[in-house]
Amino acid sequence: MIELKNISKSKQQNKILEDISFAVKKADRLVILGPSGSGKTTILRLIAGLDAPEQGQILFDGKNMNNAVASKRQVSMVFQDLALWPHMSVRENLAFCLNKKNTKTEVTDMLSAVGLLDKAKAYPQQLSGGEKQRLALARSLISNPKILLLDEPLSSIDPLLKDDLIKLILDLRKNTHITMIYVTHDQAEAAQITDNVILLHQGKIEQKGSLTEIRNSPNNLFVKKFMGVK
Ligand SMILES: Nc1ncnc2c1ncn2[C@@H]1O[C@H](COP(=O)(O)OP(=O)(O)O)[C@@H](O)[C@H]1O
Ligand SMILES: [Mg+2]
Repeated sequence: MIELKNISKSKQQNKILEDISFAVKKADRLVILGPSGSGKTTILRLIAGLDAPEQGQILFDGKNMNNAVASKRQVSMVFQDLALWPHMSVRENLAFCLNKKNTKTEVTDMLSAVGLLDKAKAYPQQLSGGEKQRLALARSLISNPKILLLDEPLSSIDPLLKDDLIKLILDLRKNTHITMIYVTHDQAEAAQITDNVILLHQGKIEQKGSLTEIRNSPNNLFVKKFMGVK
């Protein structure tokens, strides 16, 4: 279980997050939905340990993780820009994440799971957008993390490929107990991931619930407008 309790964060004297609290149970999925600049990436960075909260607590299974270094958290994050290593082949991008010598079988299994076996020797710049995305996903999963954070993973993907990638993401997590937090500004995409949503605006949670609940009884005018409720 991941729990954020009353998290606040400022950057350069601007309040970026204010009193954020939510919990995700083990193996559950959560979507953080919100417009650009609402603080979605900042929340993921705090969970991953790439940033520290100013106030509040981040708990994993009840244990305070505020001061735990990123490498000890068993959290993987797929960044919006993917952050693939350009000087490494597809295979090397994966092998590098495994802290050991003999990586061949694990890497081959993962390449096969994401449909990239025939691209093992290619470099990231030789891949299509969808293939890069698959590699980023494979890289985030190969170390068997407990928590997977996805930051608008489909924002630069051809709309025709989105459904395939969402299916792949959901398939890959099916047989694991991985907890997933998926960030998007797109409610159609959110609907495909899960019905467990928090809606963020200007660093605050405006509403929690299922998309249907949020649409049927929006808390305020912002929610109403953002969800396109007439
Ligand atoms: N390093 C930074 N310094 C100052 N402001 C920042 C920094 N990073 C993000 N912000 C601001 O914090 C707010 C939330 O950013 P972010 O978490 O990236 O939002 P989102 O991912 O929802 O688009 C934005 O207003 C952004 O301009
Ligand atoms: Mg962002």
